[in-house]
Amino acid sequence: MRKPKFFRRFDYHKSLLPNSVLAELEEGVNSIEQAVEKTGRTIGYPGWNLIYYIILSHLNPDSFNVIIETGSNVGCSTIALTQALKDSHYDGQVYSVELLPENHTRAQDNLSKAGILDLVDCRLGDSREVLKSILEEVKSVRIAFLDASHLLEDVFQEFELIYPLLEDNSIVIFDNTYQIAESHEDQRVFGALHKIKEMYGGNLINLEFVSWFTPGVAIWQKKPFPTIDTPPYLPFAATPQQTSLGSEQITETLPSKGNSGRLEQSSGEQVSPQQPVASLLGQILRYYSRWPVGVAALAIALNTGALFLSGVSQWLMVASGTLLLLLLIGHVASKADTVLQELKTVKQQNQKAIATLRKRIKAKQLKNG
Ligand SMILES: C[S@@+](CC[C@H](N)C(=O)[O-])C[C@H]1O[C@@H](n2cnc3c(N)ncnc32)[C@H](O)[C@@H]1O
Repeated sequence: MRKPKFFRRFDYHKSLLPNSVLAELEEGVNSIEQAVEKTGRTIGYPGWNLIYYIILSHLNPDSFNVIIETGSNVGCSTIALTQALKDSHYDGQVYSVELLPENHTRAQDNLSKAGILDLVDCRLGDSREVLKSILEEVKSVRIAFLDASHLLEDVFQEFELIYPLLEDNSIVIFDNTYQIAESHEDQRVFGALHKIKEMYGGNLINLEFVSWFTPGVAIWQKKPFPTIDTPPYLPFAATPQQTSLGSEQITETLPSKGNSGRLEQSSGEQVSPQQPVASLLGQILRYYSRWPVGVAALAIALNTGALFLSGVSQWLMVASGTLLLLLLIGHVASKADTVLQELKTVKQQNQKAIATLRKRIKAKQLKNG
């Protein structure tokens, strides 16, 4: 293991905390040792507020919000999560799973003192088993906070259990993301995040300077935005389909509820090698239906207008019309070059993506016998 680190803070105003029970528990605490005694192995400040505000900002007013936590410990992070649900006034339920009976009991006591136990279903047991039964009972998971065992395979297993019930914009929060392990040791949450990224793609944000031994909190999301057309200010930028065709983004959706293991992009769209070319052509058409058409029309109008004039004004109009046409031709030529380059890249990406998919299909076939 590398040297212990912590970014848990004690020099803050306790009134900032989302629930007064957290403030009472942290009263007089000035060191990590005192903190562990009073609030257990919790993410602490500003982690509590971080998850409180993430949750408050991500609960859906139009649906029933399921929040799942693994690793309740003595209930401090559970208080932050649940207080956010309470303060949102939206429908929902928090589930929190803890392995050790004494922690489970302390968590319930703390939640009861915090006045929010009615919003939490505290379950005792191994998260990898208990999650299965919770996931049978709920339709989808809006937010998951995975903070139980931090061994690579344990974190990954929890993620895989929850994955089928995540919507595109649901989020999964991980604590202890810093690479604390030496290369020969279990790579823990850090390793699990690499594995998740490799197998499921998605988007990850890592907030390094929060929490403690091991610090770091990361947020994962499958697909935060629906697919959009190319924004007008980026006429030749790759569309979301093109950018996500990089081989590392292609992922095989594992067989799960309502999913027969078909091959998809991480965004959930089926991969079609024709898509990027069609979308590139679409972009070109959209682009040239804007200002270049206007410039061409102006140049033609100037040259046509010149036919009805004579003398200096005729030459001036012909000269400016021709100049505009020349500029336009130069611009088109340089864009054509860009398009050719892009087509080349798309072709390479497609070849890479197809090779990755083939490899994955083969590996899966071997695994399934
Ligand atoms: C780091 S603490 C959780 C801290 C808590 N989330 C917080 O921030 O206040 C990890 C907790 O997970 C529990 N745990 C470890 N392995 C577990 C498992 N397989 N299933 C459920 N809980 C587990 C431990 O007993 C411990 O209480």
